[in-house]
This record gives sequence, structure tokens and C-alpha cells, in this order.
Amino acid sequence: MATYSYVDCLERSYKVNWKIKDVLGNQDFDLSRPWLPAGLSGGSSLSFLDEEEKRKLTHVEMGAYAHLFGFVEAFIAPEMVALARDSSHETAGAFEALTNFASEEIKHMHLFQEIRRRVDNKLGFELELLAGQQEVAQTVLSRHRGAVLLLTAAIEWLTQHHYLSAMRHSDELDPLTKEIFRFHWMEEAQHAQLDHLEAMAHFKSMGASDRDAAVEDLIWLLVAVDGLLQQQVGHDVVNASRYLGRVFTAVERQEVRQGLLKAKRHCFIESGVSHPNFQELFLSVTTPDQQARVQDALTLILHRGPGH
Ligand SMILES: [Fe+2]
Ligand SMILES: [Fe+2]
Repeated sequence: MATYSYVDCLERSYKVNWKIKDVLGNQDFDLSRPWLPAGLSGGSSLSFLDEEEKRKLTHVEMGAYAHLFGFVEAFIAPEMVALARDSSHETAGAFEALTNFASEEIKHMHLFQEIRRRVDNKLGFELELLAGQQEVAQTVLSRHRGAVLLLTAAIEWLTQHHYLSAMRHSDELDPLTKEIFRFHWMEEAQHAQLDHLEAMAHFKSMGASDRDAAVEDLIWLLVAVDGLLQQQVGHDVVNASRYLGRVFTAVERQEVRQGLLKAKRHCFIESGVSHPNFQELFLSVTTPDQQARVQDALTLILHRGPGH
């Protein structure tokens, strides 16, 4: 059983805390390298693209990948401010750790904004990216706090998984990309543990029907995340066509959509909800019946075709 603490999280956060200039320095993206590892890219399944085109596809995918983290941080930061405001003085370090968490997310949003600017400069055109960040943040925050906390925990654990399993030991990945997500991983490690502490405390204070409502809202949020990923995939197809300088046939376009959507669902849904540390949290705050409902919803979400 996980034994996290607010005080430890804050201490570790102070140890690893970085500035945006530490991350970006004077480095530039390298167009001769992939910007996302194969495990997080949708290119590997697209047999009609050659190796250079698959590598170029990772450049537009990474622009979207960085954007989506900034996008979700727009609800995570205010969520942490609200949790800090409501935290108990009796829980040592909670207020400090949660406000620090919020401030780190604001910094990450600025980092990802700057990354988008640099990606656009490097690619020579402005990437089409998912819009409506503030409206989506308001919508997410209007759902059950228990659901928002579980979704947040899944997202923060997946940042850990992506860096450790796909980026850290990659020799071919663009060095600047690796550095960006290494720095992000370092601070997200504390965030994921704080999500765990907050979710455990909130579910403990809830009655059975309240927990049921939280699980229903979690399902609603997972469906909504998938809808956003589908929208971004639509933009990715336009970005890829423009960057590769090729017009996809109807069949190719459909294959690109499917390949990119499968990769995005893996990145932003599957790798989070299946992370062992998320599973430990989820299983401890839900009943077998609630777990089955979420699993059924996930099966539907992960297997439905684009446009549903
Ligand atoms: Fe972040
Ligand atoms: Fe975070």
C-alpha cells in the first residue's frame, strides 16, 4: 500500500524544482530525429508512409502531445487551488504542497506554450491544435470532485509511464524532446502522489451514493477526453498532410485517423488507467460493480471508430 505524504512531496518538489530556461536552454529541435518514441506515435501502423514520413509525423504528433498536457493543466491548476483552499490545517503540509502543485502546473502551461511556439517556428507553419481550453476546464471542474481527482491521477501517472518506458532510454529520440519530458516527469512524480492522497481522503469522506455519482462522472469524463482526442486527431491529419506535402487518398486518410487515434487513446487514456499506481488508487476507492462499469465504458471507448 502506497505511503505518500504531503510533507515529503513538498520537500522533493523543492529539490527538483526547475525554471523554464533550465529546460529549453539554447537547445533546438532536431528535424533529423523522431520527436516522439514509436510507442507513443501512430505512425508505425501506416505502411504507406516511408521512414522519413513516419519520422516527420512524430513532429506534428509531439506538437499536439505537448499541447494536450498544457490543455489538461488548465483544469488541474484551478482544481489544486480549490483543494488547497479546502484543505485541513490538521493535515501537515497539505496547503503548502497543493498550492505549490498548482503553481508548478501554471509553469508547465507556460513551458508548453513556449514549446508550441518553437515547434511552429521549426516546422514553418502554425499547427492546428485543439481549442477551447478554458471552456473545457470549466466543464471538467463542474463534474464530481472525486471523478476529477481520479482523472487527474490517471493523467499524472501516465506522464511517469511515458518518460520511463518510452523516452528515458531511447537513443534516437530528439534530445530536446527527451529533456522537456524528463523535467516534466520530475515534477509530475509529486503531483501523482498528491492526487492519490487527495482522492483517498475525498472518497473516504463520501457516502455510497456519492461514490456512485463520482464513478458515473468519471465515465462521462473519459468519454469527453476521447471526444477531445478525436478532435485533435482531425487537426493532426491536416497538419500531417501539410507538413508531409502530400494529399492523402480517402483510404489513407482513414488509416491515418485510425492510427493516430489509437496512439492518442493509448497515450492519454489507456496508459493512465492501466498504470499500477492508478489501479491501486482506483481499486481502493471503488466497489467491484463500479470497477466493472468503468471497465465496460473503457472497452467501448477504446474500440469505437473515429467520429463516435
Ligand atoms: Fe504538468
Ligand atoms: Fe501535474
